[in-house]
Amino acid sequence: MGLRGPRRRSSLPVGLTLILLGLTAAAATHPGTTGLTSSGVMASVGTTATPPTMGWNSWNSFGCGGLTETLVHETADAMVNGGLLAAGYDTLTLDDCWSAVSRDSSGNLTNDPVKFPSGMKAIGDYIHARGLKYGIYASIGTATCTGGTAGSLDHEYLDVARFASWGVDYIKADRCNADGLVMKDIYARWRDAILASGRSIVLSASDNNPTDEPWAWGPVTARQWRMSPDISDDWTSPPGQPPWKEGMINIFDRNFAHAAATAPGTFNDPDMLEVGNGGMTDTEYRTHFGLWALMSAPLIAGNDVRSMSDATRTILTNPEVIAVDQDALGFQAILAADSGGGLQVWYKPLAASGARAVGLLNRGDAAASITLSWNAIHLAAANATVRDLWARADRGSFANGYSVSVPAHGMALLRVVGTDRPLTHGFLSDQPWTYMANEQGPVERNSSNGGGGAGDGRTLTLNGVPYLRGFGAHAPSAIEFRPNGVCQTFTADVGVDDEVGAFGSVLFQVWGDDQKLYEGGLMTGETATENVNVSIAGVQSLRLQIVAVDSTADDHADWANPRVTCADRPPPNQPPQARFTTTRSLVAPWEIVAFDAESSSDPDGTIVSYMWDFGDGFTANGVIVHHAYVHSGRFSVVLTVVDNRQASAAATSEVTVDVPPIASFSASLKAAPRGVPIRFDGSASIDSDGTIVSYGWDFGDGQTAAGISATHAYAENGTFTVRLTVTDDLGAIDNTAGSIEIGNRAPTILFASPPASFVMALGEVQTFVIVASDIDGDLLTYGWLVDGQSVGGSSSSYEFVGTSVGSHVVRVIVSDGSAEVGFGWTIEVRTQPQPATGRLEPVGGGLFIQVLSASALVALGVIFLIRNSRRRRP
Ligand code: GLA
Repeated sequence: MGLRGPRRRSSLPVGLTLILLGLTAAAATHPGTTGLTSSGVMASVGTTATPPTMGWNSWNSFGCGGLTETLVHETADAMVNGGLLAAGYDTLTLDDCWSAVSRDSSGNLTNDPVKFPSGMKAIGDYIHARGLKYGIYASIGTATCTGGTAGSLDHEYLDVARFASWGVDYIKADRCNADGLVMKDIYARWRDAILASGRSIVLSASDNNPTDEPWAWGPVTARQWRMSPDISDDWTSPPGQPPWKEGMINIFDRNFAHAAATAPGTFNDPDMLEVGNGGMTDTEYRTHFGLWALMSAPLIAGNDVRSMSDATRTILTNPEVIAVDQDALGFQAILAADSGGGLQVWYKPLAASGARAVGLLNRGDAAASITLSWNAIHLAAANATVRDLWARADRGSFANGYSVSVPAHGMALLRVVGTDRPLTHGFLSDQPWTYMANEQGPVERNSSNGGGGAGDGRTLTLNGVPYLRGFGAHAPSAIEFRPNGVCQTFTADVGVDDEVGAFGSVLFQVWGDDQKLYEGGLMTGETATENVNVSIAGVQSLRLQIVAVDSTADDHADWANPRVTCADRPPPNQPPQARFTTTRSLVAPWEIVAFDAESSSDPDGTIVSYMWDFGDGFTANGVIVHHAYVHSGRFSVVLTVVDNRQASAAATSEVTVDVPPIASFSASLKAAPRGVPIRFDGSASIDSDGTIVSYGWDFGDGQTAAGISATHAYAENGTFTVRLTVTDDLGAIDNTAGSIEIGNRAPTILFASPPASFVMALGEVQTFVIVASDIDGDLLTYGWLVDGQSVGGSSSSYEFVGTSVGSHVVRVIVSDGSAEVGFGWTIEVRTQPQPATGRLEPVGGGLFIQVLSASALVALGVIFLIRNSRRRRP
């Protein structure tokens, strides 16, 4: 506001900069700045949004007594080792009670010598060495709140310089023992002292007294500003709660009332987190954390991170919830719907075409179903996809909205991606916005704000010029439109409406995505109308922001004739690309198959619907779907995706549903000699839902064959694995194996001459002849023995001379190298010959029954040619 009475310029000191803290002094000459305006305020255009602070602070769990050097060391280590730093929590802040009761002899703030014996520079070094930033607490008044140690009033430059010399990166400047001070002026001293220090230090304006309206001056003073009493570790304030404390949900409600003050890089601070401190259930802590993320609030963990539960860690480090908080557009969620009984829908736009973060909050004491409609979050009537950020799971694509059961004190937190209502060439005041937050009543279309409820304004008037079209706002104020890249310029006449006379004091900003495209000078009721003309080429999100600079009183500010120029026709749409994967392409009947289309994409928009045709008469919708086929066969699965401009694309893939065949075979012989043909028969193989179309045999000796049966003779001895592989008519295969033993056959004696034992006369000579055969064709060797003594010889005949009267045994051993057979004669040498007797005597065992084969018959023929050569020795 401006002062009542004679018209005057801004109450901000000349030369102040609106560059927000966290920038170094050097940043005051940012290349994108437009320089000093007539009011002496420097406008910084080209600024890129900074996300809300993330970190840890000692106060909520350790209060005054627990803050020590050891705690800080252990907490820094735990933040690094426990994944908090990796999740984004990078600032470790020492709250009240680090300092000595009094300043040192030079007038400087100094450490409590007992709690911080190494000093505050050493603590900073320890924190920095772990990749963390160093935050410290100070009081803006005469003493700190609880510690009662020295405050910084009238020492701001000295103390900030001292903090800078310790390497401090973040200052929580707390409102303690400061009654009677003008907060916007006191906090401006801190802002300027930081700029003067030359160090990049984030200013957290911890003004815990809402009557100071921190949201009115916070955005031009600090990165973040408190707007409530201290948070307590309760869902809602318990009876008897002191006035300086409030329950979590009460603070959320306070913050909502000033949602428009939060903008990219500057944030309402609903105080530090209580997640993990024990006063609420895990469900309530999820709600607490989710609400803070929806608010784009600083996420300052306040629990003992050295010993947190898995549930607490999971809440604090959920990357998808953190991404909602850190979203580059920096919106604070607003109420989309309230169906009574504490069932509410909160949402904020996110930085992607058609994207919203949505909280379905159940403040009631019993589980309830909450319904979200696309209309309530300013999406066009088209399919939108839903992702559950706590479950970290896609829920599918839905046509009009989404319902879910939410437990008592719970909040479903969703990312919804649908279709923004398109912007077209012309007046913005005739077109739908995607977000609107405003300090007093709604932003009015085509009238001034009036300062009360809806519809209380007058004709928009700037410096005597009436405007039929435009927005009548009240700072802080934020509205968003989604050109989504199809518009080129935004123009408007801006100023404080004539209805407040010379009062009011505001800044107009235009943001394109995360870039500040425009910031005018300070405007009061008597400032000349400013013409805004900025390029918004390529911009997806267009945010019209009005910032209050001292108080919110009389800040009736108008966007008159707000217009966008957009391409007559949007650039040709690029079609989406459909892609999907299946768990398996060959499945059995009734087997559940997942189809996942997450890899589908759209180069210039979003996919708004996923339709599946499974090829068996069934269809489904959703990013990931499941289906079980009943019948065997080959089915073409077709996925059709449709993008936000109704272009579609399809992808096809075949699924074979089949009961696989079962291979089985028998062999005519399980064991056989070499060369013996064995018949293998695969006709016992079955296919229960079709036919077997191929049989493949592998005999294990390098030989193969095809056909329902096959005959094979092995050439070598050994154990062979025979494998039959069958393929059915749908391509499924099975195989089975069995083993075959191939062995040697012993030689056979076919004929012996003389054919039997006999009596011979002394002095006679007898030639013994043996005819043997080997069915395997092995080379035979012969060994002769007389009366057990080897007489050598290796031929098939032996000449015996009856030199001594008596009984003699002549034997021959025929060997094929691995098996032997023998024959023996008993000879009675007498003076008179006697009739003969003989016997066939197997010697050594063969593996197989001897078979008279063709080769043996050939041998028999030879035998008849051998003459009995019994003769008397001459
Ligand atoms: C005030 C602040 C708290 C905390 C204490 C420390 O109450 O609001 O966040 O810093 O002081 O004394």
